[in-house]
Amino acid sequence: MANPNEHLVDWLRDAYAMEKQAESMLKAQSSRLENYPELRQRIDQHLQETLGQQTLLEGCLDRLGSSPSAMKDLTGRIAAFGQAVGGMTMTDEVVKGAMSGYIFEQTEVASYTALIAAARGAGDTETVRCCEQILPQEIEMARWLLEHLPGIVTAYMSRSAEGRDDAKR
Ligand SMILES: [Fe+2]
Repeated sequence: MANPNEHLVDWLRDAYAMEKQAESMLKAQSSRLENYPELRQRIDQHLQETLGQQTLLEGCLDRLGSSPSAMKDLTGRIAAFGQAVGGMTMTDEVVKGAMSGYIFEQTEVASYTALIAAARGAGDTETVRCCEQILPQEIEMARWLLEHLPGIVTAYMSRSAEGRDDAKR
């Protein structure tokens, strides 16, 4: 048995680890992207949003008398590193990166939707407010990536067909 606050704290810590992973992935993608400036700019914007989200989550955990989990945090970073390294070996890195980014954002959308319900269940209006502030940023990033994916694929294919070495990233 666990009381509503215990679930809420647990899921807030999951969300914090997820945002640490997001930070690592976005930084890795941004640092490697050279020839897709619009995508890079959007990633940098979301990186700033992600850092703000971490601060909001830290505040929620702090109010609940908890703190981010070092262990979950570490696991997230190792996974992000693996993904970043994996992406670097692919010639279609920019396409795979945009697709992975979209999937990750949708995971975040589901997480915050669940967290809002959990916070409501626990009667924690401040956490509801924080998560309702974060959720639209994730929805918007997912929407942007999906909307721009066809253009990224088209640019990649035409550059690749010309044998240009700026296609990959
Ligand atoms: Fe995000």
